[in-house]
Amino acid sequence: MDNPTYIILLGAPGAGKGTQAEMLRERVGLAHISSGDLFRENVSKQTPLGKLAKSYMDKGELVPDDVTIQMVMDRIARPDCARGVVFDGFPRTEAQAKALDDALAKEGKRIGAVLLVSVRDELLIQRLTARWVCPTDGAVYNLLSNPPKVAGRCDRDGSPLEQRNDDKPDTVRRRLAVYSTQTQPLIEYYRAAGLLREIDGERDIEKVQLDVVKAVETL
Ligand code: AP5
Ligand code: MG
Repeated sequence: MDNPTYIILLGAPGAGKGTQAEMLRERVGLAHISSGDLFRENVSKQTPLGKLAKSYMDKGELVPDDVTIQMVMDRIARPDCARGVVFDGFPRTEAQAKALDDALAKEGKRIGAVLLVSVRDELLIQRLTARWVCPTDGAVYNLLSNPPKVAGRCDRDGSPLEQRNDDKPDTVRRRLAVYSTQTQPLIEYYRAAGLLREIDGERDIEKVQLDVVKAVETL
């Protein structure tokens, strides 16, 4: 991979985007850009962007395109993105997708592949309600499929694990509805561009990872 590689992980809340993106960062050396993580960092630091984002995130709604695009563009400009990026949770609207295409085109670059990780709604709800995260380093666990070694503690730094504010059942339902109306249209957008690859996200994390790595290594 001599040229920088840009991969998008597309999928519903709970599909495993963050889990797979983090593994790609470790195994392939791509920078992991998660718009949700960037917003959560701003929320915990109580920045003006964080206060704005929280008012949308707590309801399961999307943060407006202009601030989201600006935040991600600032992040892409950082040096760790020189080898390439795996995008997780961005783009989520057609305006975001076009802004990313334009920004890359200005630098003579383009997206290499869009990996659609598909999981049925019943499983998504089950996964999200069993998810626990480390507030210090962002590590993601699941009581059913990926538990920490010591109950309630992060494997990496021992911090007490927490549940995300937006993983409450009502908010999860709203996030799934928002995905289907605002983000699902991107499937056709990227299929038409010849970039879409579909991955069955209902299998074990390691099996999904094999397909994800294969898709990236055969670009
Ligand atoms: P964001 O943080 O992006 O959340 P999301 O897209 O709803 O996705 P999740 O992080 O919930 O799921 P994931 O696919 O990463 O799954 P994970 O790997 O954790 O966004 C949050 C909010 O921020 C949005 O609602 C919005 O308000 C705002 N926002 C973010 N980006 C935005 C944008 N671009 N525009 C506007 N607003 C934006 O896995 C889930 C669980 O399942 C974990 O417990 C994991 O351990 C487990 N698991 C993973 N894979 C498997 C597997 N194969 N089998 C079994 N269990 C698995
Ligand atoms: Mg995530």
